[in-house]
Amino acid sequence: MNNQQSTNLLFEISHAGRRTHRLPKCDVHTDTAMSSLLPQDYLTAAPPPLPELSEVDLIRHFNNLSTRNMCIDTHFYPLGSCTMKYNPKRHERLAGIPGFANLHPLQHEDTIQGMLELLYGMQEYLSEISGLPAVSLQPAAGAQGELTALFVAAAYFRDRGETLRRKVLAPDSAHGTNPASAALAGFDTVTIKSGANGLVDLEDLKSKVGPDTAAFMITQPNTLGLFEKQIATITELLHSHGALVYLDGANMNAILGITRPGDFGADMQHYNVHKTFTGPHGGGGPGSGPIAVRDFLAPYLPSPMVVKEGNRYRLDNDRPQSIGRVRSFFGNVGILLRGYCYIRTLGPDGLKAVSEHAVLNANYLRARIGEGYEIPHPGPCMHEFVASARMLLREKKVKALDLCKRLLDYGYHPPTMYFPLVVSEALMMEPTETESKETLDAFADAMLAIRNEDPEV
Ligand SMILES: Cc1ncc(COP(=O)(O)O)c(C=O)c1O
Repeated sequence: MNNQQSTNLLFEISHAGRRTHRLPKCDVHTDTAMSSLLPQDYLTAAPPPLPELSEVDLIRHFNNLSTRNMCIDTHFYPLGSCTMKYNPKRHERLAGIPGFANLHPLQHEDTIQGMLELLYGMQEYLSEISGLPAVSLQPAAGAQGELTALFVAAAYFRDRGETLRRKVLAPDSAHGTNPASAALAGFDTVTIKSGANGLVDLEDLKSKVGPDTAAFMITQPNTLGLFEKQIATITELLHSHGALVYLDGANMNAILGITRPGDFGADMQHYNVHKTFTGPHGGGGPGSGPIAVRDFLAPYLPSPMVVKEGNRYRLDNDRPQSIGRVRSFFGNVGILLRGYCYIRTLGPDGLKAVSEHAVLNANYLRARIGEGYEIPHPGPCMHEFVASARMLLREKKVKALDLCKRLLDYGYHPPTMYFPLVVSEALMMEPTETESKETLDAFADAMLAIRNEDPEV
């Protein structure tokens, strides 16, 4: 039974008059009360045609529906670039503590000191992990972090009178949000080629960077799961032209505590707290995409910022060069809380171990998948890798899409497919650090079994 059938079922099992609750008859004369309070246009003559069900049927229906989706709590989920790691349940308890969950963002600062302390702490941790001194927690997702940082870059160049810097460069392996954010921020986008080794083609970059370049957006490790080894040369090159380097931090899970974007020359970056620091995601949100920037960009960060004065925390709105708000209130605080808990629980050594294990798991899976699939770029990889199903297409007319659907039959969420665009029939796999060797082996066995299946049978 698919979801559509299940939804239809809700209507099919409807019986006139059946109810989950029977409330006592209303003792207010509703007709008069309603018509005197609400404009006539807002009133309907008849009740909406909803299914009429008993409570037990309703509960069964929704419980059954809830198990028809794959999620990280039920299935291995190697969706490349999405870091579908296990989301510890203690974070849910923390976020549900009434002292956090029942706060209202319009409360007076004096009554939310605990929350502000925590957000301030999160700013500090994200600054330390990135090696960049100033952090805004406001952006609601990675893509909005990119856009916010590019607004910050635009404001910086505007202040310097460098209005000719109209171009933002990004590699052809970049996530689609990179050029999209650049375009939305009003820049012209320029694509930089990747070399045969999957890394940025330095010669192509050199030929395209110039006095009109505002920024280069680079993902480290890149979306092929490869560490851009020439990153220091790249950042020097960009800086020598007066341009900024933006680090797409979606792949921070590979480098936590090992290297820092600020140390290899990035000027700004975003985090995907929902990926790297375990905010549950996969159903479309909510996310959290804080940005970290160098000192000279800090004045342009969104307002307000959480600041500490003595033992007190407050929201600083007096920031005349700020680009303003990019989201209501302080960002997706519930996800930031979970990320904070994760960082505090693991500490510096734990975070480093996360990345080491994520990279180890990816390399193990890469070796197993390589037993039957083409892996176009040389390893070792970082936290993810990209295989290709093009030989299946050649030999059996089986597309990456068909393979991914077949994986569902085996009980696995498929990898990311057809991305990055530089690999045909791409299958991008990110096992994350939270999976056991047995799970990785079972998944690899399923992939290899599908490789040998006859699609006609
Ligand atoms: C490399 C990369 N950059 C940016 C993003 C955008 O992040 P978000 O989905 O949080 O907007 C993603 C998301 O998958 C990504 O993989």
